[in-house]
Amino acid sequence: MRVVHVCSEIYPLIKTGGLADVAAALPPALVRCGCDVRLLLPGYPVILEQVRNPQMLVELPPRFGASRLRLYAATLPGSEMPAYVIDAHGLYDRHGNPYADARNQEYADNYRRFALLGWMAAELAHGLDPVWRPDIVHGHDWHAGLAPAYLKAAERRSGRIAASVMTIHNLAYQGVYSREVFHELDLPPDFFDMYGVEFYGNVSFLKAGLFYADKLTTVSPTYAREIQGSEQGCGLEGLLSGRAQDLAGILNGVDPEVWNPETDAAIAANYGVSSLERKRECRRALQQQCGLAMQDTAPVFGVVSRLTDQKGLHLVLDALPDVIQRGGQLVLLGSGDAELETGFLNAAAAHPEAVSVQIGYDEGKSHQIIASCDVVLVPSRYEPCGLTQLYGLRYGTLPLVRRVGGLADSVVDASPENQAAGMATGIVFEGFNTEQLATAMRCAFALFSHHDAWQRVQQTGMRQQFTWDRAAAQMIDVYRQIMMLEL
Ligand code: ADP
Ligand code: GLC
Repeated sequence: MRVVHVCSEIYPLIKTGGLADVAAALPPALVRCGCDVRLLLPGYPVILEQVRNPQMLVELPPRFGASRLRLYAATLPGSEMPAYVIDAHGLYDRHGNPYADARNQEYADNYRRFALLGWMAAELAHGLDPVWRPDIVHGHDWHAGLAPAYLKAAERRSGRIAASVMTIHNLAYQGVYSREVFHELDLPPDFFDMYGVEFYGNVSFLKAGLFYADKLTTVSPTYAREIQGSEQGCGLEGLLSGRAQDLAGILNGVDPEVWNPETDAAIAANYGVSSLERKRECRRALQQQCGLAMQDTAPVFGVVSRLTDQKGLHLVLDALPDVIQRGGQLVLLGSGDAELETGFLNAAAAHPEAVSVQIGYDEGKSHQIIASCDVVLVPSRYEPCGLTQLYGLRYGTLPLVRRVGGLADSVVDASPENQAAGMATGIVFEGFNTEQLATAMRCAFALFSHHDAWQRVQQTGMRQQFTWDRAAAQMIDVYRQIMMLEL
């Protein structure tokens, strides 16, 4: 089975969130399961500069506003993974964030930039590379949403050329643009329809993908159910519940090459499930580095996150006085919402011995926080999968999470019954409010004071197997279902 994965970011070349981690780890896992996989990526400068052996496959007439358009075949650095890279002058040759300018304003021509990505995927399926043609085009999030639409348009002209899969990593980001842009997209006029790319009078890239793709997946079983209801469906619940038979929830995994406490080069001491005492060295190193009081009687809570409404971090800010009063500490790394940034910075300035805040993106520090803290906080309003709680589990850092989306599917609450059954891996709360978060944090203090019980929960978490090989096997089932339909 030949599959091309269409993604807008990939770790470690360019990353704004978990999508980049998935784009880096899922394709190699699929290869290990016997699939023939390639990637299709926009040629941002960081990608064009870092891929290996780029060979120009073809130069195409300018379109979507690109003044020069070339497709390269290359391999990703540090792996054998083949990647097609689109070099589009005027569209992708911008530094920094892949979606927004230095003032964090979304680029006004994003609809052209990502229409090109989807269009190129369909061209590959049409045989742009004479030696490799995908059976399946697998798009990720709204950036790749038009790929299934272009495939459908091509199918109309010349018969079926490839099947398609869309994976939803976050339904809240949909790529919605005014209807005026439709004529620039080169799609058949009747595609601007409720049964097509139209969404409340606008063009929606994500809806296009969800409507035209043969199969849909999202990144956890619980989120797959949640998005079929009005609370989390973001207006697409009707379409998604109508396609429930085509929608699979497949939980993401952890890449042990990147996240492994036994080998992680970014942390102060390496440790494993039977050498947890060395984790304390990491804890001390982080406290020292962050200028926190060197205490070991109350938990250190950690946050590594985009600071957006999704992540529920204003609840952490509200619960913070109680945590500080109990002798607990907080280390936060993140950036985003200006109000949250200021709120956390103010808390750190007022309580430097208890709160440390770093605004920005820092790969090494994210590993240090996950390894060194006692608890990783993920109190999300919604969470399609969530990766930091999976990293926390692997590092013996108890995830404290809200029971929602992939968090509900990956963390087992340390209730007395679950502890007695040897199943507990973290702390789970229900309601999206400060009171319930604060109560859960108090449970963390209580459990932390019982060293043996705490360690049992840590070890149970560390033994969990959230592997990419399992996710890849489930994805291949989805591919097989499509291929059966094709026969
Ligand atoms: P989302 O994709 O919604 O942001 P995930 O939990 O799936 O949430 O993935 C977030 C990824 O981004 C994780 O790999 C996390 O470690 C990383 N990350 C988030 N914020 C930062 C930051 N400020 N610095 C370094 N890594 C970060
Ligand atoms: C999105 C989601 C997150 C998920 C990630 C990777 O960014 O917000 O929950 O883990 O994609 O699938």
